[in-house]
Amino acid sequence: MYSSYLLAATEIAREAGALVARYFERRVAVEYKGDFDVVTEADRASETRIVERLAARFPGHSVVAEEGSGVERASEFTWYVDPLDGTTNFAHGFPMFAVTLALEHQGEVVAGVVYDPVHEEFFAAEKGGGAYLNNRRIHVSRVDRLEESLLATGFPSRKRHADVNVYFFHQAAMLSHGVRRAGSASLDLSYLAAGRLDGFWEFGLNPWDVAAGLLLISEAGGRCSDMHGGPHRLRGPHLAASNGLIHQEMIGLFGDVFADRIRVPLPVISTVNR
Ligand code: IPD
Ligand code: CA
Ligand code: CA
Repeated sequence: MYSSYLLAATEIAREAGALVARYFERRVAVEYKGDFDVVTEADRASETRIVERLAARFPGHSVVAEEGSGVERASEFTWYVDPLDGTTNFAHGFPMFAVTLALEHQGEVVAGVVYDPVHEEFFAAEKGGGAYLNNRRIHVSRVDRLEESLLATGFPSRKRHADVNVYFFHQAAMLSHGVRRAGSASLDLSYLAAGRLDGFWEFGLNPWDVAAGLLLISEAGGRCSDMHGGPHRLRGPHLAASNGLIHQEMIGLFGDVFADRIRVPLPVISTVNR
């Protein structure tokens, strides 16, 4: 039912991804916006291209784009666009970033893509149609114990002093096989959908970071909620996603951390650093 939108999203993300990859090869000049938020020329060029293409194909649709060039209007359809997710990585030459866009229809995400042009990995999902990586069906993992899981999270680049995620990071790292912090939320969610990760959480993400990834996860058989286990909202304060099998264990752990019940205390530096 939404395949024509998915096809359009695919073409547009491929074009924007190729553009971003050309900038990456040239290692563009970086500029700083606010408290360590690197915005590159590539962010803006990619967004301009995506917004132009969406406006040409779907002139009546609303577009919410991270760098602000989208046009929001009264429509049943809203596109969420992150023209470059993983900008800090990009700016440092760390090859982990993506272009992502997703379409919401009447409040539900119905199509989404995440394109990693460096590794030529294209993740795509349509509501009810499954999740795909380079046209092959993907599924979440079967790991069913937190202690055997590989997790991922992220930390905000803005207002870092107010971020409490390090407490969650420490507990999760001690009680699992480890926590990756790769620097691109859309790819973290895509990797979870593909079974490369078993769980993910983060505070303060925006709809354009997660809309496509959340659809990928649900279409790949996974589960998404907020970090208390309640329903996840696109504009919610935090997100927990998993293969479904370790979800309750993750939520239980987060509940303890929210309540200051620290299961594994941090070592005292003076006793180990001699
Ligand atoms: C960021 C990345 C990162 C996440 C940050 C996001 P950006 O997006 O997704 O993984 O931890 O919270 O802001 O700024 O590179 O588009
Ligand atoms: Ca982002
Ligand atoms: Ca971005």
